[in-house]
Amino acid sequence: MKKDFIAVSDYSPSELQTMLDLAVKLKQELKDGGNQPILKNKTMAMIFQKPSLRTRVSFDMAMRQLGGDALYLSPNEIGLGKRESIADVARVVSGYVDIIMARVFEHDHVLKLAQWADIPVINGLSDYNHPCQAMADALTILENFGTLKDINVTFVGDGNNVAVSLMFICTKLGAHFTQTGPEGYDMPQEAIQIAQKFADESGSTIKFTRDVHEAVKNSHVIYTDTWTSMGQEEEAKKREAVFPPYQVNESLVNEADKDAIVMHCLPAHRGQEITDAVADGSHSRLFPQAHNRLHAQKAIVATLLG
Ligand code: CP
Ligand code: NVA
Repeated sequence: MKKDFIAVSDYSPSELQTMLDLAVKLKQELKDGGNQPILKNKTMAMIFQKPSLRTRVSFDMAMRQLGGDALYLSPNEIGLGKRESIADVARVVSGYVDIIMARVFEHDHVLKLAQWADIPVINGLSDYNHPCQAMADALTILENFGTLKDINVTFVGDGNNVAVSLMFICTKLGAHFTQTGPEGYDMPQEAIQIAQKFADESGSTIKFTRDVHEAVKNSHVIYTDTWTSMGQEEEAKKREAVFPPYQVNESLVNEADKDAIVMHCLPAHRGQEITDAVADGSHSRLFPQAHNRLHAQKAIVATLLG
């Protein structure tokens, strides 16, 4: 049966660890002079309903560096579910390429693509989650701390798609996960219940608090993301009124562990969820984290097509 990569929660801790090990290996191989063409003649269709820098460029380069190729399909081009039904797009594209990566609004759209495609489908972000980001995040934490086990990861801000995938990967791999944000922007209950099970299995913990200071105390990782995600633009003003106490600034970072790292999936809204001083400061891992998308995604694609 074909394998998809739709959610971190679909994979076991050992499967995730194996993919991360492969990402480490492929990253080293690239540094040592270049990757082996393990995806020779393999092609990817990249379907986008939303804008992207990192996802688009890193998947395209991942395919090329492994000997394959990728085709970018913009929101206007295929009109997923508008010009043509998702089921029809999935079946047509399955005859042209070897793997699909899709960035969608409704999570159900990527599930539908996976249901109808004969080839693997990778979720490149939906309103519910962002599993490829989580793999790059785990790789970044591993590189900094050597493990995820018993690392304290605190997500400061909106309980959004990125927070959900981060919570899944943390609880799968034994990191303690805390989220803090204003009332009305909590993480989905259903995701919390799923993650609680993973936490019980790995021996990690999940915690939620409105108190940002309590949340970051003893944190090894402070993670933040935009207050207003793609598709929520009309709520921006309302959100900008309640999120400022949850800004990741120097004084907040100083309340965490002294060796804490700061992460952000990017794009950053400097002066809102994160200050320039933090984004460009010594605790920041923003750019190595963004670069790790390339290596993590190579491992995902190689695993699905292996
Ligand atoms: N972090 C991330 O997914 O960035 P893009 O929206 O630029 O792809
Ligand atoms: N939460 C953000 C992530 C962007 C990569 C969004 O969905 O817009």
